[in-house]
Amino acid sequence: MPSKLSLLSLFLISLELQLLTSSIAKPATFVQDFHVTWSESHIKQFDNGTAIQLLLDQNSGCGFASKYKYLFGRVSMKIKLVPGDSAGTVTAFYMSSESNESRDELDFEFLGNRTGQPYTVQTNVFASGKGEREQRVNLWFDPSREFHDYSIFWSKRQIIFSVDDIPIRVYKNNAARGVPYPLSQPMGIYSTLWEADNWATRGGLEKIDWTKAPFNAYYKDFDIEGCTAAGQAECGRASNNWWDGPTYQQLDQVQARKYRWVRVNHMVYDYCTDRSRFPVPPPECLAGI
Ligand SMILES: *[C@@H]1O[C@H](CO)[C@@H](O)[C@H](O)[C@H]1NC(C)=O
Ligand SMILES: *[C@@H]1O[C@H](CO)[C@@H](O)[C@H](O)[C@H]1NC(C)=O
Ligand SMILES: *[C@@H]1O[C@H](CO)[C@@H](O)[C@H](O)[C@H]1NC(C)=O
Repeated sequence: MPSKLSLLSLFLISLELQLLTSSIAKPATFVQDFHVTWSESHIKQFDNGTAIQLLLDQNSGCGFASKYKYLFGRVSMKIKLVPGDSAGTVTAFYMSSESNESRDELDFEFLGNRTGQPYTVQTNVFASGKGEREQRVNLWFDPSREFHDYSIFWSKRQIIFSVDDIPIRVYKNNAARGVPYPLSQPMGIYSTLWEADNWATRGGLEKIDWTKAPFNAYYKDFDIEGCTAAGQAECGRASNNWWDGPTYQQLDQVQARKYRWVRVNHMVYDYCTDRSRFPVPPPECLAGI
Protein backbone atom coordinates (compact mmCIF):
# COMPACT_ATOMS: atom_id res chain seq x y z
CA MET A 1 0.00 0.00 0.00
CA PRO A 2 1.48 3.37 -0.96
CA SER A 3 1.55 5.78 1.93
CA LYS A 4 -0.30 9.06 1.87
CA LEU A 5 2.98 10.83 1.42
CA SER A 6 4.01 8.86 -1.65
CA LEU A 7 0.56 9.31 -3.16
CA LEU A 8 0.96 13.02 -2.63
CA SER A 9 4.39 13.05 -4.20
CA LEU A 10 3.10 11.00 -7.14
CA PHE A 11 0.38 13.55 -7.56
CA LEU A 12 2.90 16.39 -7.43
CA ILE A 13 5.17 14.67 -9.94
CA SER A 14 2.33 14.16 -12.38
CA LEU A 15 1.22 17.75 -11.87
CA GLU A 16 4.77 18.87 -12.53
CA LEU A 17 4.98 16.77 -15.69
CA GLN A 18 1.75 18.29 -16.89
CA LEU A 19 3.05 21.79 -16.25
CA LEU A 20 6.34 20.98 -17.94
CA THR A 21 4.76 19.78 -21.15
CA SER A 22 1.81 22.13 -20.79
CA SER A 23 -0.22 19.59 -22.68
CA ILE A 24 -3.79 18.95 -21.76
CA ALA A 25 -5.71 15.84 -22.68
CA LYS A 26 -9.37 15.68 -21.83
CA PRO A 27 -12.74 16.30 -23.37
CA ALA A 28 -13.74 19.59 -21.78
CA THR A 29 -16.80 21.67 -21.22
CA PHE A 30 -17.25 24.65 -23.48
CA VAL A 31 -16.48 27.29 -20.84
CA GLN A 32 -13.29 25.55 -19.69
CA ASP A 33 -11.58 26.04 -23.04
CA PHE A 34 -13.59 28.59 -25.01
CA HIS A 35 -15.36 31.92 -24.95
CA VAL A 36 -17.95 33.48 -27.23
CA THR A 37 -16.46 36.00 -29.67
CA TRP A 38 -19.53 36.96 -31.66
CA SER A 39 -23.18 37.22 -30.60
CA GLU A 40 -23.61 35.65 -27.17
CA SER A 41 -27.37 35.41 -27.80
CA HIS A 42 -26.82 33.03 -30.73
CA ILE A 43 -24.81 30.40 -28.79
CA LYS A 44 -26.55 28.12 -26.32
CA GLN A 45 -24.93 25.57 -24.04
CA PHE A 46 -26.60 22.29 -23.23
CA ASP A 47 -25.82 18.85 -21.75
CA ASN A 48 -24.26 20.52 -18.74
CA GLY A 49 -21.99 22.69 -20.84
CA THR A 50 -20.41 19.83 -22.77
CA ALA A 51 -22.26 20.73 -25.98
CA ILE A 52 -23.36 23.91 -27.72
CA GLN A 53 -25.78 25.06 -30.37
CA LEU A 54 -24.81 27.78 -32.86
CA LEU A 55 -27.56 29.78 -34.51
CA LEU A 56 -27.65 31.88 -37.67
CA ASP A 57 -30.60 34.11 -38.46
CA GLN A 58 -31.14 37.30 -40.43
CA ASN A 59 -29.83 39.36 -37.50
CA SER A 60 -26.56 37.59 -36.94
CA GLY A 61 -24.28 34.61 -37.13
CA CYS A 62 -22.03 33.75 -34.21
CA GLY A 63 -18.63 32.48 -33.22
CA PHE A 64 -16.37 31.26 -30.44
CA ALA A 65 -12.65 30.99 -29.78
CA SER A 66 -10.30 29.12 -27.47
CA LYS A 67 -9.03 30.92 -24.39
CA TYR A 68 -5.46 29.91 -25.16
CA LYS A 69 -3.21 29.60 -28.17
CA TYR A 70 -1.30 26.41 -28.85
CA LEU A 71 1.95 25.57 -30.57
CA PHE A 72 1.48 22.11 -32.17
CA GLY A 73 -0.86 19.36 -31.05
CA ARG A 74 -4.24 18.12 -32.07
CA VAL A 75 -7.70 19.58 -31.76
CA SER A 76 -10.89 17.72 -32.48
CA MET A 77 -14.58 18.26 -32.03
CA LYS A 78 -17.77 16.55 -33.01
CA ILE A 79 -20.00 18.69 -35.18
CA LYS A 80 -23.53 18.24 -36.54
CA LEU A 81 -23.99 20.68 -39.40
CA VAL A 82 -26.98 22.76 -40.50
CA PRO A 83 -29.59 20.32 -41.89
CA GLY A 84 -31.91 20.57 -44.89
CA ASP A 85 -31.54 23.59 -47.11
CA SER A 86 -28.22 25.01 -45.88
CA ALA A 87 -27.20 26.72 -49.14
CA GLY A 88 -25.29 29.95 -48.53
CA THR A 89 -24.35 29.06 -44.95
CA VAL A 90 -20.76 28.42 -43.94
CA THR A 91 -19.66 26.72 -40.74
CA ALA A 92 -15.97 27.16 -40.09
CA PHE A 93 -13.60 25.43 -37.69
CA TYR A 94 -10.04 26.65 -37.86
CA MET A 95 -6.79 27.44 -36.12
CA SER A 96 -5.21 30.84 -36.59
CA SER A 97 -2.29 32.83 -35.26
CA GLU A 98 -4.41 35.97 -35.88
CA SER A 99 -1.18 37.85 -36.62
CA ASN A 100 -2.15 39.99 -39.57
CA GLU A 101 0.58 40.13 -42.23
CA SER A 102 2.33 36.92 -41.27
CA ARG A 103 -0.76 34.96 -40.31
CA ASP A 104 -0.65 31.17 -40.09
CA GLU A 105 -4.04 29.51 -40.42
CA LEU A 106 -5.49 26.03 -40.89
CA ASP A 107 -9.10 26.10 -42.11
CA PHE A 108 -12.00 23.72 -42.28
CA GLU A 109 -14.99 25.38 -43.98
CA PHE A 110 -18.25 23.49 -44.39
CA LEU A 111 -20.19 24.86 -47.33
CA GLY A 112 -23.93 24.26 -47.10
CA ASN A 113 -26.03 23.15 -50.05
CA ARG A 114 -29.61 22.76 -51.20
CA THR A 115 -31.50 19.85 -49.64
CA GLY A 116 -30.17 16.55 -50.91
CA GLN A 117 -27.06 18.07 -52.52
CA PRO A 118 -23.66 17.17 -51.08
CA TYR A 119 -22.00 19.23 -48.35
CA THR A 120 -18.53 20.37 -49.37
CA VAL A 121 -15.58 20.71 -47.02
CA GLN A 122 -13.05 23.29 -48.08
CA THR A 123 -9.62 23.28 -46.46
CA ASN A 124 -6.94 25.92 -46.72
CA VAL A 125 -3.48 26.40 -45.30
CA PHE A 126 -2.04 29.85 -44.64
CA ALA A 127 1.65 30.12 -43.82
CA SER A 128 3.40 33.43 -43.21
CA GLY A 129 0.37 35.34 -44.44
CA LYS A 130 -0.07 33.47 -47.71
CA GLY A 131 -3.08 31.24 -48.34
CA GLU A 132 -4.64 30.40 -51.72
CA ARG A 133 -4.21 26.69 -51.08
CA GLU A 134 -7.85 25.62 -51.28
CA GLN A 135 -8.91 22.04 -51.64
CA ARG A 136 -12.49 20.80 -51.67
CA VAL A 137 -13.90 17.42 -50.79
CA ASN A 138 -17.54 16.35 -51.02
CA LEU A 139 -18.45 14.42 -47.89
CA TRP A 140 -19.42 10.76 -48.28
CA PHE A 141 -22.20 11.05 -45.70
CA ASP A 142 -24.84 13.59 -44.66
CA PRO A 143 -23.01 15.58 -41.94
CA SER A 144 -26.26 17.06 -40.62
CA ARG A 145 -27.81 13.75 -39.56
CA GLU A 146 -25.31 12.81 -36.88
CA PHE A 147 -22.24 14.13 -35.11
CA HIS A 148 -18.97 13.43 -36.91
CA ASP A 149 -15.44 14.01 -35.74
CA TYR A 150 -13.33 16.75 -37.36
CA SER A 151 -9.72 17.20 -36.35
CA ILE A 152 -6.58 19.15 -37.10
CA PHE A 153 -3.23 17.57 -36.27
CA TRP A 154 -0.24 19.91 -36.35
CA SER A 155 3.36 18.94 -35.68
CA LYS A 156 6.73 20.12 -36.92
CA ARG A 157 6.54 17.48 -39.67
CA GLN A 158 3.01 17.58 -41.02
CA ILE A 159 -0.50 18.96 -40.78
CA ILE A 160 -3.39 16.53 -41.16
CA PHE A 161 -7.05 17.46 -41.56
CA SER A 162 -9.21 14.44 -40.73
CA VAL A 163 -12.89 13.55 -40.86
CA ASP A 164 -13.79 10.61 -38.61
CA ASP A 165 -10.06 9.81 -38.48
CA ILE A 166 -9.86 9.64 -42.27
CA PRO A 167 -7.21 12.06 -43.55
CA ILE A 168 -8.70 14.40 -46.14
CA ARG A 169 -5.65 16.61 -46.43
CA VAL A 170 -1.98 16.41 -45.55
CA TYR A 171 0.33 19.41 -45.72
CA LYS A 172 3.93 18.42 -45.14
CA ASN A 173 6.76 20.50 -43.87
CA ASN A 174 8.68 21.22 -47.06
CA ALA A 175 10.46 24.23 -45.61
CA ALA A 176 13.73 22.76 -46.90
CA ARG A 177 12.31 23.23 -50.44
CA GLY A 178 11.35 26.81 -49.69
CA VAL A 179 7.69 26.09 -48.95
CA PRO A 180 6.36 28.13 -46.02
CA TYR A 181 5.22 26.05 -43.04
CA PRO A 182 3.70 27.20 -39.71
CA LEU A 183 6.46 26.55 -37.19
CA SER A 184 6.74 29.36 -34.71
CA GLN A 185 3.44 31.15 -34.09
CA PRO A 186 0.97 29.67 -31.60
CA MET A 187 -2.55 29.37 -32.98
CA GLY A 188 -5.93 29.74 -31.34
CA ILE A 189 -8.97 27.61 -32.18
CA TYR A 190 -11.97 29.30 -33.70
CA SER A 191 -15.39 28.50 -35.04
CA THR A 192 -18.11 30.53 -36.68
CA LEU A 193 -21.45 30.03 -38.37
CA TRP A 194 -22.28 32.76 -40.85
CA GLU A 195 -23.87 33.72 -44.14
CA ALA A 196 -21.64 33.74 -47.22
CA ASP A 197 -24.04 33.29 -50.10
CA ASN A 198 -21.91 35.46 -52.37
CA TRP A 199 -19.46 32.53 -52.78
CA ALA A 200 -20.24 29.45 -50.71
CA THR A 201 -22.63 27.32 -52.71
CA ARG A 202 -21.99 26.64 -56.40
CA GLY A 203 -19.72 29.66 -56.41
CA GLY A 204 -22.44 31.99 -55.11
CA LEU A 205 -25.20 30.99 -57.54
CA GLU A 206 -27.30 29.45 -54.77
CA LYS A 207 -28.57 32.05 -52.29
CA ILE A 208 -29.54 31.58 -48.68
CA ASP A 209 -33.25 30.91 -48.14
CA TRP A 210 -34.15 32.97 -45.08
CA THR A 211 -37.60 31.38 -44.87
CA LYS A 212 -35.68 28.30 -43.58
CA ALA A 213 -33.99 30.31 -40.77
CA PRO A 214 -32.90 29.94 -38.04
CA PHE A 215 -30.05 27.68 -39.09
CA ASN A 216 -28.43 25.57 -36.36
CA ALA A 217 -25.18 23.68 -35.99
CA TYR A 218 -24.21 21.61 -32.92
CA TYR A 219 -20.81 20.94 -31.33
CA LYS A 220 -19.64 18.58 -28.60
CA ASP A 221 -16.65 16.58 -27.31
CA PHE A 222 -14.18 19.43 -27.46
CA ASP A 223 -10.72 17.95 -27.22
CA ILE A 224 -7.56 20.00 -27.30
CA GLU A 225 -4.16 18.40 -26.84
CA GLY A 226 -1.59 21.06 -27.36
CA CYS A 227 1.36 22.93 -26.03
CA THR A 228 0.10 26.13 -24.41
CA ALA A 229 3.51 27.54 -23.56
CA ALA A 230 3.96 31.04 -24.89
CA GLY A 231 6.90 30.62 -27.22
CA GLN A 232 8.52 28.03 -29.38
CA ALA A 233 11.44 27.60 -27.01
CA GLU A 234 9.16 26.44 -24.19
CA CYS A 235 7.25 24.05 -26.41
CA GLY A 236 10.38 22.72 -28.12
CA ARG A 237 11.85 21.80 -24.73
CA ALA A 238 8.94 19.53 -23.93
CA SER A 239 10.45 16.40 -25.44
CA ASN A 240 7.56 14.13 -24.57
CA ASN A 241 4.89 15.66 -26.78
CA TRP A 242 3.14 12.62 -28.25
CA TRP A 243 2.67 14.35 -31.61
CA ASP A 244 6.46 14.33 -32.10
CA GLY A 245 6.58 10.55 -31.65
CA PRO A 246 7.81 8.18 -34.39
CA THR A 247 4.31 7.02 -35.39
CA TYR A 248 3.21 10.57 -36.19
CA GLN A 249 6.01 11.50 -38.59
CA GLN A 250 3.97 10.42 -41.59
CA LEU A 251 0.73 8.59 -42.42
CA ASP A 252 0.82 4.87 -41.72
CA GLN A 253 -0.24 2.43 -44.47
CA VAL A 254 -3.86 2.26 -43.39
CA GLN A 255 -4.19 6.05 -43.17
CA ALA A 256 -2.39 6.47 -46.50
CA ARG A 257 -4.86 4.09 -48.15
CA LYS A 258 -7.84 6.01 -46.73
CA TYR A 259 -6.30 9.29 -47.84
CA ARG A 260 -5.89 7.98 -51.41
CA TRP A 261 -9.52 6.82 -51.34
CA VAL A 262 -10.67 10.35 -50.44
CA ARG A 263 -8.51 11.96 -53.12
CA VAL A 264 -9.64 9.58 -55.84
CA ASN A 265 -13.34 9.46 -54.98
CA HIS A 266 -14.27 12.66 -53.17
CA MET A 267 -11.94 15.46 -54.11
CA VAL A 268 -13.77 18.02 -56.25
CA TYR A 269 -11.22 20.83 -56.31
CA ASP A 270 -7.47 21.06 -55.81
CA TYR A 271 -5.58 24.32 -56.28
CA CYS A 272 -2.56 22.23 -57.26
CA THR A 273 -4.24 21.21 -60.52
CA ASP A 274 -5.96 24.56 -61.24
CA ARG A 275 -3.86 25.73 -64.20
CA SER A 276 -5.98 28.85 -64.77
CA ARG A 277 -5.01 30.13 -61.32
CA PHE A 278 -1.53 28.64 -61.22
CA PRO A 279 0.02 28.12 -64.67
CA VAL A 280 3.08 27.00 -62.72
CA PRO A 281 2.02 24.78 -59.81
CA PRO A 282 3.09 26.09 -56.38
CA PRO A 283 6.24 24.36 -55.05
CA GLU A 284 4.44 22.32 -52.36
CA CYS A 285 2.33 20.70 -55.11
CA LEU A 286 5.46 19.36 -56.79
CA ALA A 287 7.01 18.23 -53.52
CA GLY A 288 4.59 15.30 -53.36
CA ILE A 289 1.76 14.52 -50.98
C1 LIG B 1 -22.62 18.89 -14.41
O1 LIG B 1 -21.34 19.45 -14.18
C2 LIG B 1 -21.04 19.63 -12.80
C3 LIG B 1 -19.71 20.37 -12.70
O2 LIG B 1 -18.80 20.00 -13.70
C4 LIG B 1 -21.03 18.28 -12.08
O3 LIG B 1 -20.73 18.44 -10.72
C5 LIG B 1 -22.39 17.62 -12.27
O4 LIG B 1 -22.37 16.32 -11.71
C6 LIG B 1 -22.76 17.54 -13.74
N1 LIG B 1 -24.14 17.04 -13.88
C7 LIG B 1 -24.48 16.06 -14.72
C8 LIG B 1 -25.93 15.73 -14.77
O5 LIG B 1 -23.67 15.48 -15.42
C1 LIG C 1 -5.27 43.28 -37.87
O1 LIG C 1 -5.58 44.41 -38.67
C2 LIG C 1 -6.89 44.90 -38.49
C3 LIG C 1 -7.15 46.00 -39.50
O2 LIG C 1 -5.99 46.46 -40.10
C4 LIG C 1 -7.04 45.38 -37.03
O3 LIG C 1 -8.35 45.86 -36.82
C5 LIG C 1 -6.76 44.22 -36.10
O4 LIG C 1 -6.79 44.65 -34.76
C6 LIG C 1 -5.39 43.59 -36.38
N1 LIG C 1 -5.23 42.37 -35.58
C7 LIG C 1 -4.10 42.03 -35.00
C8 LIG C 1 -4.13 40.76 -34.22
O5 LIG C 1 -3.08 42.69 -35.09
C1 LIG D 1 -23.70 21.54 -54.10
O1 LIG D 1 -24.34 20.69 -55.01
C2 LIG D 1 -23.92 20.83 -56.34
C3 LIG D 1 -24.79 19.95 -57.22
O2 LIG D 1 -24.71 18.60 -56.83
C4 LIG D 1 -22.44 20.45 -56.42
O3 LIG D 1 -21.98 20.67 -57.75
C5 LIG D 1 -21.62 21.31 -55.46
O4 LIG D 1 -20.27 20.86 -55.43
C6 LIG D 1 -22.19 21.21 -54.05
N1 LIG D 1 -21.46 22.00 -53.09
C7 LIG D 1 -21.30 23.34 -53.13
C8 LIG D 1 -20.58 23.94 -51.97
O5 LIG D 1 -21.68 24.06 -54.03
